[in-house]
Amino acid sequence: MARSGKVTVVGAGFYGSTTAQRLAEYDIFDEVVLTDIIDGKPEGLALDLNQSRPIEGFETKVTGQTTGPEGEGYEVIAGSEVVVITAGLPRKPGMSRMDLIGVNAKIVRNVVEQVVTHAPDAVLVVVSNPLDEMTALAAKVSQFPSRRVMGQAGLLDTARFSYFVAERLGVPVGSVRTLTLGSHGDTMVPVPSACEVNGTPLAELLGPDEIGALVERTRNGGGEIVGLLKTGSAYYAPSAAAAKMARAIALDTGEVLPVCAWMDGQYGISDVYLGVEAEVDATGVRAVVERKLTDEEFTSLRAAADAVRAKQADIASL
Ligand code: 2OP
Repeated sequence: MARSGKVTVVGAGFYGSTTAQRLAEYDIFDEVVLTDIIDGKPEGLALDLNQSRPIEGFETKVTGQTTGPEGEGYEVIAGSEVVVITAGLPRKPGMSRMDLIGVNAKIVRNVVEQVVTHAPDAVLVVVSNPLDEMTALAAKVSQFPSRRVMGQAGLLDTARFSYFVAERLGVPVGSVRTLTLGSHGDTMVPVPSACEVNGTPLAELLGPDEIGALVERTRNGGGEIVGLLKTGSAYYAPSAAAAKMARAIALDTGEVLPVCAWMDGQYGISDVYLGVEAEVDATGVRAVVERKLTDEEFTSLRAAADAVRAKQADIASL
């Protein structure tokens, strides 16, 4: 298979390094760049990943680069088509994603400024938390066209929902289709009307209370893992989601994925980065896809948009 292009992952924590690993193992890129501010960490992880290549059988080269406070080292990201921003602190048990807003805003702002300087044509995939606010901040700081900035959350939340349904019904995960929209937080909007198992609507297989319990577990999906790990947050499913988005951009697939995208009138909602389904291609978000929602789902999505818009308005000062 022909390999081409370069993708950068900023932040070599568990989320970033597993994202880099997945991207490298796709074996579709010339190069995956992994950066971090911790001296030697990205270089060490890149060396380790490169040494896995003869065993795993991929040729994508992984480059690790420590970056400095004034942007030293960022030259290495030049020419990246996609930059995945994982930089920032994860939650500790008992914290909400929103508790991270102040500290992570400073980190994300600094990273985005460097990306604008060194990879001005890249599509940005933000995964730092609180996700919807950090995506809006990245768009604001970069001044990139809104379609070139998106956040990763819906794919992860949807995967969690699908797993919980599959586990509850004892069916393969591949037979389950679910969907969540809205925010990556309290106003996440699971969409039961879009859920089915082998073509059978979920509502015909489970009662409203059971679906409600799975929805609630999905909404708290990240927190459940933070509580178990005690230090750090989830990264296997999050990195799978981020890598899949980067691949859709790099391969210009146009596939429909749940992502955090800029709303410009779809569902009657504007001026907010919100979790929706969108066609993702080399230009970023090619189009937001609207689907028919129940009245209740629609009301929840509007409420999520209002809540997220209010929070995103605060980020300018961060
Ligand atoms: C999660 O939900 C990291 O926010 C991410 O696990």
